[in-house]
Amino acid sequence: MRIIVVGATGLIGSAIVEALGDRHEIVRVGHRGGPHTVDLADAGSIARMFAPLGRADAVICAAGAARFGPLAALSDDDFRLGLANKLMGQVNLVRLGVESVADGGSFTLTSGVLAQRPMAGSASVSLVNAGLEGFVRAAALELPRGIRINVVSPGWITDTLKALGMDPAGGVSPSVVARAYVRSVEGSETGQVLSP
Ligand SMILES: NC(=O)c1ccc[n+]([C@@H]2O[C@H](COP(=O)([O-])OP(=O)(O)OC[C@H]3O[C@@H](n4cnc5c(N)ncnc54)[C@H](OP(=O)(O)O)[C@@H]3O)[C@@H](O)[C@H]2O)c1
Repeated sequence: MRIIVVGATGLIGSAIVEALGDRHEIVRVGHRGGPHTVDLADAGSIARMFAPLGRADAVICAAGAARFGPLAALSDDDFRLGLANKLMGQVNLVRLGVESVADGGSFTLTSGVLAQRPMAGSASVSLVNAGLEGFVRAAALELPRGIRINVVSPGWITDTLKALGMDPAGGVSPSVVARAYVRSVEGSETGQVLSP
């Protein structure tokens, strides 16, 4: 398969590339550098990314920012960032990318455990993650030509917990999370929230 991976340079994206790279052609897309770049927050940038890439059998997104912070301190701009970047960025990846995906191909997006298990400070992130899961369940009913769509909801990655000064116990490794993306791309499920 020919697979476009947005966020290929990230913690989770690199593990996805490693998990799929030995048997598929991977088109790596980053944000700041590399042969292909995109800004999820900019629909024009998403359209410009797809144009030269040609047909793909699968599009994976392991990118998307949303702001963490106490509910009382989150500003309109803080909410706007997550809505424009992680939520609408991935929604637009589907809307603008569907014609680039082959018959029977797939999209795999990324939400996160804070949709189901919120914590203090996660209001904006939980909103965005839950929105993505609702979008995927509904979009699966309408995508044409047998195209599938799933969303992976990773738990906390151990290295991320450490970087945030949180207890790393209970964290998962990127390679375990990557297995859910492999299942989405190589399997036959659609409209599912996959929790590694
Ligand atoms: N890490 C966790 O514990 C965890 C848990 C649950 C869910 N998630 C979700 O999983 C996704 C990936 O997380 P991660 O920890 O792997 O992140 P990461 O290591 O920070 O990597 C982020 C990736 O996204 C790219 N990126 C950054 N800004 C972008 C933009 N505006 N447009 C397009 N791409 C952009 C980066 O490209 P450059 O390298 O070029 O900047 C990089 O490839 C995120 O949606 C995150 O919310 C993560």
